[in-house]
Amino acid sequence: MIEFHSICFTYPNGVQALKDVDLYVEKGEFVFLVGSTGSGKSSILKMIYREIIPTSGDIYVNDRDITDMKRSQVPEFRRTLGVVFQDFKLIPYKTVYENIAYALEVTGVKSKDIKPKVEKALGLVNLADKAKRFPHEISGGEQQRTSIARAIVGDPIILVADEPTGNLDPESSWDIMELLDKINKNGTTIIMATHNRDIVDVMKKRVILVDNGQIVSDKEKGEYFPNLKK
Ligand SMILES: Nc1ncnc2c1ncn2[C@@H]1O[C@H](COP(=O)(O)OP(=O)(O)OP(=O)(O)O)[C@@H](O)[C@H]1O
Ligand SMILES: [Mg+2]
Repeated sequence: MIEFHSICFTYPNGVQALKDVDLYVEKGEFVFLVGSTGSGKSSILKMIYREIIPTSGDIYVNDRDITDMKRSQVPEFRRTLGVVFQDFKLIPYKTVYENIAYALEVTGVKSKDIKPKVEKALGLVNLADKAKRFPHEISGGEQQRTSIARAIVGDPIILVADEPTGNLDPESSWDIMELLDKINKNGTTIIMATHNRDIVDVMKKRVILVDNGQIVSDKEKGEYFPNLKK
């Protein structure tokens, strides 16, 4: 599903963000990435959705070698993934419905197939009654639910989430976690970076601790690690 073999990555400015990372995630898992700021969590996630490519090492995602992938194959590969960010990244001049539909339009889904898929996604995130609102007319939690609907409307195999609760109050954060848990139980693999200790401790999922560009701990039903040292 996701395989990192000895991944190293150095940003163009010379920062070595990942150092010899090996990572295996099986189909259907729910994985938390934790670690102090700058430890390399987002860099690992960016590798998965091929925003960055390794300086050395190989990555396989959804049975494809994405290190050695032609540019022309990237859009098709990306369709197998959904990505959710801390700041939602919704298009401000499109409604909730249009934001979700757009994810299908750009991948060439036939227009007659778009409506039922968007309606199903809206139902899953419980936003059918807000479909015609614009992002600025709904709450932060609702904006994040919209972005999750957009991420899953194409039935991705893997959902990548980079601090999806980072901008939300505790109640909205729990709504988002319930939703992600439901999506995971429907079969989607989820890998999520977070600083939210309560969520990690309560959810009892696999927890991978990243420190200084390396995976330093990996536990089933793990906990958030307090007092991380550099
Ligand atoms: N675009 C970039 N160019 C150069 N260096 C970068 C870039 N993005 C991140 N870095 C550096 O790479 C290292 C890892 O950053 P990364 O964003 O992966 O950390 P993180 O664990 O996601 O941190 P946070 O918890 O703050 O989101 C850090 O030293 C960071 O400063
Ligand atoms: Mg980050």
